[in-house]
Amino acid sequence: MTTAATPSVGLVGWRGMVGSVLMQRMQDEGDFANINPVFFSTSNVGGAAPAIAGAAAGAAGKLEDAFDLETLAKLPIIVTAQGGDYTKQVHGELRSRGWDGLWIDAASTLRMNDDSIIVLDPINRDVIDAGLSGGVKDYIGGNCTVSCMLMGLGGLFKNNLVEWGTSMTYQAASGGGARHMRELLNQFGTLNAEVSSELSDPASAILEIDRKVLAHQRTEIDATQFGVPLAGSLIPWIDADLGNGQSKEEWKAGVETNKILGTSSEDRVIMDGLCVRIGAMRSHSQALTLKLREDLSVGEIEKLLDTDNEWARVVPNTKEASMAELTPVAASGTLDIPVGRIRKLEMGPQYISAFTVGDQLLWGAAEPLRRMLRIATGNL
Ligand code: HSE
Repeated sequence: MTTAATPSVGLVGWRGMVGSVLMQRMQDEGDFANINPVFFSTSNVGGAAPAIAGAAAGAAGKLEDAFDLETLAKLPIIVTAQGGDYTKQVHGELRSRGWDGLWIDAASTLRMNDDSIIVLDPINRDVIDAGLSGGVKDYIGGNCTVSCMLMGLGGLFKNNLVEWGTSMTYQAASGGGARHMRELLNQFGTLNAEVSSELSDPASAILEIDRKVLAHQRTEIDATQFGVPLAGSLIPWIDADLGNGQSKEEWKAGVETNKILGTSSEDRVIMDGLCVRIGAMRSHSQALTLKLREDLSVGEIEKLLDTDNEWARVVPNTKEASMAELTPVAASGTLDIPVGRIRKLEMGPQYISAFTVGDQLLWGAAEPLRRMLRIATGNL
């Protein structure tokens, strides 16, 4: 039911991949009952807004112009998954007009600003609450790999038990965008088509099949989005080259982890590693090496991780469980963050390995924003 206290919330970029996952999650959780949604568009202004069952104000009317600052400025809260270019174009203008509403954003543009907070409430609800009471207005979703890592390993990071860590990632095609996912599948398809007659003949020579596949990968395969073939290969670089040997994705691990945790210079966690794109669809995986500040038993570590939040789930370090539960196929489409392969490394009693997987469109993108909107409207 609509009440005077039901806030109007501007929704921008709700039709893209992250936006669509966000809309679905909001519907699944009944979030529209708490808000009056105002849908914006960059391309279909005046078109029909989606009919949202259970929305506080019923039908949402027409699509508003996402570049109309006056209309945007009337709203107390704006949620955007429209992308960094939109944020760059609109956010500063709105603020310079004196708009002091809450801006909840999936893009990285504002993430490292001093006056923004990276939202991941199961890990940093204290930081978010302090921000809200202290007048912080910009609440930004974190990098997907960082968010998924912290959701899985929150029990160690939140208790200040990690001295340093490396994260070696296996990132899915969805991190590049919808077109990248399509390209990956098309690549798998054309590779298969290239050798389908040989594959159907059990007597054909595997090295001949391999030669044909490689020739196709090196010459004809369409790699417009990724730049090089991903199917049957990998890409050991994600995002911009910072010029010091580090990719921007790798840089984010250290700076965002510490910003999310709100660490001081004394308890700063050193995080670095290599980020690699692989041919998974929408779940990012990462292999971690952590140096702990204490010599905890594996049992103690598992208990800390398992009980930290309701989504982290320890997978026993066995072959069977790891193969069944600790893969992108197992994690995709769920909010579970399985974390496994936990064992002490040969380097010494404070060194452990771990492997974690998370759906990068859910905890990696949409879910922290959805929950932030609930927190902002007093519903979480
Ligand atoms: N930068 C991430 C990736 C996605 O390319 O996988 C968004 O956080």
